[in-house]
Amino acid sequence: MGDLVLGIETSCDDTSVALVDQNGQIAAIETVSQYEVHSEFGGVYPELASRAHLEAILPTIETVMAQAGAGRLELRAIGVTRGPGLMGSLLVGLSTAQALSMAWDLPCYGINHLRGHIRSVDLEEKRLTYPALVMLVSGGHTLLAYLQDQHSYELLGTTRDDSVGECYDKVARTLGLGMPGGPAIDRMAASGTARIKFPRPMIHSGYEFSFSGLKSSVARYVETHPEFVIDDVAASFVDACLDVLGAKLRRAIAQKRPASLAVVGGVAASRQLRAHMQQISEETGVSLCLPPQKWATDNAAMIALATWDYIAQNAPQELDPKPNLRLVDA
Ligand code: KG4
Ligand code: ZN
Repeated sequence: MGDLVLGIETSCDDTSVALVDQNGQIAAIETVSQYEVHSEFGGVYPELASRAHLEAILPTIETVMAQAGAGRLELRAIGVTRGPGLMGSLLVGLSTAQALSMAWDLPCYGINHLRGHIRSVDLEEKRLTYPALVMLVSGGHTLLAYLQDQHSYELLGTTRDDSVGECYDKVARTLGLGMPGGPAIDRMAASGTARIKFPRPMIHSGYEFSFSGLKSSVARYVETHPEFVIDDVAASFVDACLDVLGAKLRRAIAQKRPASLAVVGGVAASRQLRAHMQQISEETGVSLCLPPQKWATDNAAMIALATWDYIAQNAPQELDPKPNLRLVDA
């Protein structure tokens, strides 16, 4: 029996394949991004996404196997994202994984992408300790969850409208920055001053989030202040986002008293966000677990590592696509 899992991730606009061992060490990884395919639409165009996945998936698998010098005998199982995500994109990964599992006679697990993000903090080095408070901030999701242990997920709150990443991307578009918007906003914000007081939606209540009002408020400001300074708008926007995320986290830490705080998802690649979370960790004495910066955004290594949990639990091998799969679902 081999000691690597082949992970496949095609839920949105990245075709990613990786080989990962049980300890989160990455033997090989390759990610093909579709930014150029979608940039003229200002967002991900589902039809084009699945076509691009279809073109990229087999060569990417071949590249990764060659990089690691691995063959079927080095593999224990295949793990592929089953949801949430775009139906057409998920189907490309799932059908490819299924075909390979039959050809190579290997077990194949359908993996929850959100659980993959949580496992990203243990890539390259084990970090997560339980009970853990998890904040997932990505393009598709914004949520706060409490994990008593690796297998019990309690959802504390989610967003009522836009996700944080979506908001970063839309503000980037308002400011005339290209795709992907998050990294551009993060860079601009680093050299700006947070002097504009944008609203902090729902900052004083519970664990639910709402970001569309903040996004509209930035758009209104830009419209009514033609002399606006991009860096300062970006810095003020980021300041408002981090204030809201930080307030919810502090509230949850006070109530739940977790052993660690994990912040995951694409926006966890942000330098500003990472610094802010470090500050909260020092203030509260709760240890902070972040994914290595390059593994915060969608990648197959986190899916492969999550697959090891499914193997350990002897989980059912479910391979039907679930575009709306939730964190609390298997
Ligand atoms: O986790 P992810 O790759 O995909 C989803 O599962 O949605 O997250 C993508 C999101 C995008 O909105 C992107 O703009 C944002 O993560 N992002 C960032 C950074 N890198 C990616 N946001 C802020 N700073 C970054 N450095
Ligand atoms: Zn993701």
